[in-house]
Amino acid sequence: MNDKLINKFSHYRKQFSHVGQVSYFNSAAYCPFCDPVKEAIEENLALRAAGDRDESRLVRATQDALRADYARLVGARKREIGLGLSTSQGLNIAAFGLPLGKSDEVLLSDVEFPALVYIWRAAAEAKGFKIKLLPSKDRCFDIEALEKAITKKTKVLALSYVQFFNGFKNDLARISEICKANGVWLIIDGIQGMGVEPINVRKLGIDIFA
Ligand SMILES: Cc1ncc(COP(=O)(O)O)c(C=O)c1O
Repeated sequence: MNDKLINKFSHYRKQFSHVGQVSYFNSAAYCPFCDPVKEAIEENLALRAAGDRDESRLVRATQDALRADYARLVGARKREIGLGLSTSQGLNIAAFGLPLGKSDEVLLSDVEFPALVYIWRAAAEAKGFKIKLLPSKDRCFDIEALEKAITKKTKVLALSYVQFFNGFKNDLARISEICKANGVWLIIDGIQGMGVEPINVRKLGIDIFA
């Protein structure tokens, strides 16, 4: 990492005790805890060990603050933010919660992150809607293929903001425009792009963002 970048993030890097001792290449589901997270967990454990029966008030206050921060980060309202355990959990809620039935179609990319595909397949089996896989172009999402595939039956496009295996960033503004014009809900898996660049779900017309 170059020095400029290290300096820019030095405040945050200091919060990860292992930095400088080991080289850590996996920052996905198994990222190391930063010190404030570790301290918060320890504080909560200490309260419970001391017999505090209402430690949940701290949890609720933290969740409340977190929802406000997250809303600011993605350009949503606080009441639109729900906290879950993972990206996949959020996408599951969308796939199983939206009113979709036998006559409906859901569009996915043929180079989509596997967890997203399995979620929508499971929901399709349970609810009877059909899944159409959009052919990619040079291993990237192809907007022309989207335009061609939309029919009156199309209700959802579920898509990653940034593709997991090649870093390709989808043009959400353009894609959302097409979805809106055709009454298609746009469900975005944002995990590979979140925090890297500003994102505004309201301006982009994203219906569900996990
Ligand atoms: C695009 C994408 N979606 C979802 C996930 C999984 O996220 P989670 O473990 O929070 O469900 C990953 C993990 O690498 C991912 O790259």
